[in-house]
Amino acid sequence: MDKIIIEGGVPLKGTIEVSGAKNAALPIIAAALLTEEKCIIKNVPNLRDVVTMIKILRSLGVKAQMEQDCVTVEAKRCNQFVADYKLVSTMRASICVLGPLLAKQKQARVSMPGGCVIGQRPVDLHIKGLRALGAQLKIEHGYIVAAAKVLHGNNIFLGGAYGSSVLATANVMTAAVLAKGRTLIENAACEPEVVDLANFLIKMGAKIKGHGTPIIEIEGVKRLGGASHSIIPDRIEAGTHILAAAITGGALTIKKARVDHLSAMLDKLKEVGVSVVAEQNALHVKRKGSVLKPVDITTLPYPGFPTDMQAQMMAMATVSDGISVLTEKIFPDRFMHVSELNRMGASVFLEGASAIVKGVKRLSGAPVMASDLRASAALILAGLVAKGKTEVSRIYHLDRGYERIEEKLIKVGAKIKRVKE
Ligand code: EPZ
Repeated sequence: MDKIIIEGGVPLKGTIEVSGAKNAALPIIAAALLTEEKCIIKNVPNLRDVVTMIKILRSLGVKAQMEQDCVTVEAKRCNQFVADYKLVSTMRASICVLGPLLAKQKQARVSMPGGCVIGQRPVDLHIKGLRALGAQLKIEHGYIVAAAKVLHGNNIFLGGAYGSSVLATANVMTAAVLAKGRTLIENAACEPEVVDLANFLIKMGAKIKGHGTPIIEIEGVKRLGGASHSIIPDRIEAGTHILAAAITGGALTIKKARVDHLSAMLDKLKEVGVSVVAEQNALHVKRKGSVLKPVDITTLPYPGFPTDMQAQMMAMATVSDGISVLTEKIFPDRFMHVSELNRMGASVFLEGASAIVKGVKRLSGAPVMASDLRASAALILAGLVAKGKTEVSRIYHLDRGYERIEEKLIKVGAKIKRVKE
């Protein structure tokens, strides 16, 4: 197993380029199951989760391969409908194959993804949405077993206790594109990754309107064809690099970042005292003064502050000048990074679904353990500013979501290396 070693205290300077968005690429690759024609998907990040999705497609009899940043999928011989536990258990996004398999193969057997360290991950909204289209679904021996002779469009309210759901919206949308008649998804997720999926489906011949708003309208079509598509840049990776510049007191130009996908983040960064200037396809980031001001954030569905940036924002708050409050309204238990940050000298305590962070002057490097993808990113950020050496182990979480992160950080001056444990 690899670990990352960081010698902190170097202000990062230079240019970093953002890769394609993992959370857009995964449902889009799965959606290629909806046609027998070839789909070409570009700007795909080379990540462990993408490799897992390709393996799942292959296990379904599909021709799928990745060359550099391009994934090609040809589902001509898709003759299986079972997404096996061994693959699904390593990645929750495997559930994205449920909607396309049901629509194209009329049946699907997808292993239940189970919970994970960021908390409970129910699938009731996926099931509710697909049932509303006329599918029969049951949970049997740890699998979601789905079947439908014909799918019929319907009006579906897709909201749960924590609001909209990104992947449930993706599943219902990918099933409804081949259903008979019109589907209206109300309380649909508005995340840019859902919009990117809709744009890909439209290129395949789907009739979709309203994507990016809480009401998505889909007019089912008889068949979809092949398409070529380039994945949007990863807004969470961009946000993480912005914080790397801010926390180290450096200055970074972040290329290929989409400023329109980062509004909630950028708004908070103004309060903290970080200047972000957007210019064409790049963001220029630098800290305004010598100190970072504290910040209060509440995570919410898009366009609210993303839960996938909560841990990284907390890393920054640990060294700000005052008390910050970070409240989780999407995954109330997503705080595994707190104890690790405290091992580095941070002062964070939890009060229900809120973290109270008292800023300290300096963190000190320590051996820490990554518990999940975004927690790993938070520990890297903390390591970049801490005094001395930080060793982040269980780095495989990081490899699920950040493409060549240490290479990118070395180029802008970070003292960071990957070693075998
Ligand atoms: C997506 O997960 C992302 N994953 C997550 O990214 C992200 O944290 C999350 O959306 C929220 O933005 C991918 O896109 C692959 P949800 P998803 O369904 O779709 C509740 C990362 O670090 N809910 O939008 O699975 C759920 O418990 C990750 O890259 C139900 O109640 O999340 C949560 O409270 C991790 N019933 C809320 O909805 C359901 O059936 C939003 O979750 C489904 C979800």
